[in-house]
Amino acid sequence: MSNKDRINEMINYYERRAPWHDQYMEYSGNEMMEKRLKPIVIKVVPYITKKNIIEIACGTGNWTQVLARRAKHVLAIDSSPKSLEIAKDKLQLSNRITLDIADAYNLENINDRYDVAFTSDFFSHIPKKMINCFFDSMKTVLRPGGQVIILEMSNKDYFLEKFDCYVDGNSDLINTRQLPDGSITEVVKNFYSENELRELLKNHSSDIIFHNFEELKRWLAIFRIK
Ligand SMILES: C[S@@+](CC[C@H](N)C(=O)[O-])C[C@H]1O[C@@H](n2cnc3c(N)ncnc32)[C@H](O)[C@@H]1O
Repeated sequence: MSNKDRINEMINYYERRAPWHDQYMEYSGNEMMEKRLKPIVIKVVPYITKKNIIEIACGTGNWTQVLARRAKHVLAIDSSPKSLEIAKDKLQLSNRITLDIADAYNLENINDRYDVAFTSDFFSHIPKKMINCFFDSMKTVLRPGGQVIILEMSNKDYFLEKFDCYVDGNSDLINTRQLPDGSITEVVKNFYSENELRELLKNHSSDIIFHNFEELKRWLAIFRIK
């Protein structure tokens, strides 16, 4: 399957998953989510306070509220109209949040330039051969030397156990996912060690700070775009 087809499969999958996403992630409201992920929030806060932020692949807005509480303004984009509808119903602080449909790989039509780009649980879904394209797209919306914050899952073993998985011809790890509506989709879900990540980011970043949150099964990378 081509990378373009993989990306389109993903977009369709998340549009269908939107009504179940929060339940699947065990997110039951913004307060609870912020409390649960507090160790991560503490590390992120210094980089988002009073900043203009673009949140890429915001989904149903679970991180959007966390960002907007501290930011000057958040533009939260996602490819899924249904996810954005759910986010809109959930989010407060509407004067500091704009929700919009956009493709993470084609952000060049967005006119403003942002201090910070934030993305949660999306980086693992990028086919490896599309990572340069993703950063090129991100560079079009970040001011020079802008801050990037990437939050991702680290529990590879759980995914290997829970889903049928294989590595495809592009070295991407593919999971087979079934939704409650019965539909089955192949989803790219790549996991990186800190060293692999540093190697991957070296052409796009300077000053990488890496945090591992073992208990929360996530890592956080904070760096300036190069
Ligand atoms: C695992 S969800 C993460 C959502 C949210 N960031 C969170 O932490 O709950 C991945 C999100 O990526 C979005 N997505 C997938 N492909 C995309 C693309 N090409 N451009 C923008 N968003 C995309 C999906 O619609 C989905 O909302």
